[in-house]
Amino acid sequence: MGNEPVNVKEYQELAKQALPKMNYDYFAGGSEDQHTLRENNDAFQRIIILPRILVDVSKIDMSTTILGYKTSAPIMIAPTSMHKLAHPEGREILTAKAAAACNVIMGLSFSSTCTIEEVASSCNAVRFFQLYVFKRRDLSALMVKRAEMNGFKAILLTADTPKLGRREADIKNKMIAPQLKNFEGLFSTKVDDSDGSNLEAFASRFMDPSLSWKDIAWLKSITNLPILIKGVLTREDAIKAMEVGVEGIIVSNHGGRQLDYVPATIAVLEEVVAAVEGRIPVLFDGGIRRGTDVFKALALGARAVMVGRPIIYGLAAKGEYGVRRVIEMLKDELELTLALAGCPTLNDITRKHVKTQTDNQHCRL
Ligand code: FNR
Repeated sequence: MGNEPVNVKEYQELAKQALPKMNYDYFAGGSEDQHTLRENNDAFQRIIILPRILVDVSKIDMSTTILGYKTSAPIMIAPTSMHKLAHPEGREILTAKAAAACNVIMGLSFSSTCTIEEVASSCNAVRFFQLYVFKRRDLSALMVKRAEMNGFKAILLTADTPKLGRREADIKNKMIAPQLKNFEGLFSTKVDDSDGSNLEAFASRFMDPSLSWKDIAWLKSITNLPILIKGVLTREDAIKAMEVGVEGIIVSNHGGRQLDYVPATIAVLEEVVAAVEGRIPVLFDGGIRRGTDVFKALALGARAVMVGRPIIYGLAAKGEYGVRRVIEMLKDELELTLALAGCPTLNDITRKHVKTQTDNQHCRL
């Protein structure tokens, strides 16, 4: 195959060629000046790896557990919305099948273009359900119940989206989102889109900006599933998350799509990990494009990483095969990194295997 990509980034180019501009811009873009979007990638390049030599790396074991669920590697699929815009027929079902084939955990977005039931019945991957809280709490509660009944194993509560970040490409493109499949027959998600992107109108009509820490008690009262809070960027919020008793934290800035000029996630991971003191797992997302990126995040204390855009690019370029290849390439690169860094297992990775700018300078970034 002449156009077989050799790394994850090359899938982005293929996706760009394959997709209508509106769809590609929606997936690739960030908010406002896209500073955070760029930083998510650039900050990884400022971290270097300090390998150990003469370690027996004839056997590498990348397997681990996340919330007790076994996975072939510390790599998960991040919840991303509307896979129909990447692959009109296959949608999230293909992503889920690829997750099962690679034995990694899939995060399914609340804003999916397949239903919870369709995804559940199409594959036996371990699945976590990402939740947005609507003003109509009964609808969000219903989604949680449906996820629970369909074998999803955790709720990822996205907490960085009381309102939608300003994504200017979508505004310019007058981006029109497809119907969200989970709500069909329940209520109309149609909004006035005469003024450009309908996403913002949708969010301000339905999302509940009053959601706050006290609502974790509500969420706990309607589900027994473990709850992970997605969107933590500071030690203060990490401590609050533990106070309200969630089972995990996801260090995330929504892939640079919400508040611009927040730090790159890799720049704040260590601070959050230090605050958590090992009491609950800390997951990580934002800018993972290489096995070395996964290694760096693990060295700074992440239990596992989630991958967003590369999965969509794989799906857009080559369907289920593309998603599988993206995951496999990241896994292969991680395996090689472990070997070359002298770490036969994930437990062998330590903080001393990486050097960040803050190790040398008294500045945060
Ligand atoms: C997202 N993300 C996201 N997060 C979430 O909680 N619910 C969602 O529906 C979506 N939708 C979504 C769509 C698209 C197109 C993107 C790129 C991202 C954020 C996602 O879960 C994750 O935090 C980032 O994608 C991680 O950054 P990378 O891997 O894309 O750099």
